[in-house]
Amino acid sequence: MADPPVRCGPMNEKRTVSGAEGRPGTAVVTGAGSGIGRAVAVELLRAGWSVVLAGRRAEPLTETAALVPEGASLAVPADVSRPGDVTALFSAAVERFGRVDLLFNNAGTFGPGGVPVEELPYDAWRHVVDTNLNGAFLCAQAAYRQMKEQDPQGGRIINNGSISAHTPRPHSVAYTATKHALTGLTKSLSLDGRPYRIAVGQIDIGNAATDMTARMQTGALQANGEIAPEPVMDVADVARTVRHMAELPLEANVQFATVLATAMPYVGRG
Ligand SMILES: NC(=O)c1ccc[n+]([C@@H]2O[C@H](COP(=O)([O-])OP(=O)(O)OC[C@H]3O[C@@H](n4cnc5c(N)ncnc54)[C@H](OP(=O)(O)O)[C@@H]3O)[C@@H](O)[C@H]2O)c1
Repeated sequence: MADPPVRCGPMNEKRTVSGAEGRPGTAVVTGAGSGIGRAVAVELLRAGWSVVLAGRRAEPLTETAALVPEGASLAVPADVSRPGDVTALFSAAVERFGRVDLLFNNAGTFGPGGVPVEELPYDAWRHVVDTNLNGAFLCAQAAYRQMKEQDPQGGRIINNGSISAHTPRPHSVAYTATKHALTGLTKSLSLDGRPYRIAVGQIDIGNAATDMTARMQTGALQANGEIAPEPVMDVADVARTVRHMAELPLEANVQFATVLATAMPYVGRG
């Protein structure tokens, strides 16, 4: 189970209770210790958001916080697939910052790459479902409960889908199934959130340069069986997109945004 929360940034009470449109509020970013989550956390902190950084390992979270030493951040080690960890995460966020205005539901895993479906162990399938789908649900539910109850009411949830929410890579049944399921999660929450001013959208990313996509640059299995390197893009460009989605007034919502490396093999015939 998780280590206790670590207060990373200086106290800044002015930042803790805003959340009104046009002003930064409090964000919970899962998977904030690396890749896209780290880039988004840094982008939000630099823009004046208070940011709760979540992930299983404490050290990468404090490293993220250290990238913006003047920022108001709180590192809370948490495994999103564990209901108790998620409850503790949102309790820590509210205790420290008073409310939750944004959840970037980003923690995820690709699972074992390159394993044909008939050889995929059930445990591996379940780990991906627990992380990508059950974890996203648990965090969204906790955020939704808080946003419904807080005053002023409302907030925004941005789910991190994928190009794999639309179309698969070879040998990626668990990842692709969970990312398709996230689209259903996004649509359902978006509908159910309307009465409580909870806006829910999804970003579908293709080939941002992170640990998860390291193999894209050397060679990734293509649908025709070839191994080919693929173009990647900078995570900072994803982060700016998420910030744009996050800072819209709650009356406006980017329902789905697709941001991909321009020349990656996805559109048309690759
Ligand atoms: N990079 C891309 O091009 C791309 C494209 C489409 C979608 N995505 C999505 O973007 C998200 C982030 O991926 P990334 O590329 O930034 O890869 P990454 O660097 O591997 O990030 C994954 C993050 O999730 C955290 N995490 C994993 N399991 C967790 C759990 N059970 N509880 C809490 N945190 C957990 C990890 O931290 P710990 O290990 O410390 O827990 C890590 O910080 C994923 O949902 C991924 O599917 C990425």
